Amino acid sequence: MTYRFETARLLFQTMQPEDLDAVSQVWGSAEVMKYCGGASTKERIQRSIEFYEHLQAEKGYSVYTVLLKDISAIIGVCGFNPGENEEEAELLYHFNQHYWGKGYATEAAAACVTDLKENNRGIKKIIAAVNPANPASGKVLSKIGMTAKGIKWFGDTKQEELCFELDLT
Ligand SMILES: CC(C)(COP(=O)(O)OP(=O)(O)OC[C@H]1O[C@@H](n2cnc3c(N)ncnc32)[C@H](O)[C@@H]1OP(=O)(O)O)[C@@H](O)C(=O)NCCC(=O)NCCS
Repeated sequence: MTYRFETARLLFQTMQPEDLDAVSQVWGSAEVMKYCGGASTKERIQRSIEFYEHLQAEKGYSVYTVLLKDISAIIGVCGFNPGENEEEAELLYHFNQHYWGKGYATEAAAACVTDLKENNRGIKKIIAAVNPANPASGKVLSKIGMTAKGIKWFGDTKQEELCFELDLT
């Protein structure tokens, strides 16, 4: 079943196999993924879409496609990965570069946090990590009320990242 919620400008939906081309514009873009591990291949994106479909069914949260209502098209992705334990979820957001600078990431991140809180899925802490060279991303997190906790080394992206947290208890 497709899970949906919305804001004034944006619609959030569970990822579907037919979203592959639109999501590939985001995760397949070297520019968008510059600070987030680099561009992904279509095969990996297809597997991620399946993963996020199942994650919603299993945990009640996920990474969603973000549609701009005005044009009824996917402009990015936003939502949560499982954290290091059952009580943590990791916030992420990636938007097609044509739509940067319009407040969409802040609107989307805030909406995903509100949805997670309202639906009480056992998550007590939201975490996020940003490359210090990516100030726009840090600003999004600060604007939605997350607190910077310090720099940590991440083996998967092979970079130091600034870690943010939001306590939901
Ligand atoms: C980071 C990203 C999500 C921001 O999306 P966005 O829709 O442009 O963000 P917003 O419009 O909500 O802007 C957030 C804030 O960052 C600011 N900002 C934007 N670009 C900036 C830059 N290069 N330097 C400093 N601040 C910047 C904006 O001015 C805004 O702050 P303000 O409201 O005080 O003016 C978007 O650039 C993106 O998708 N980047 C690639 C993926 C990525 O880096 N994801 C995050 C972590 S992996």
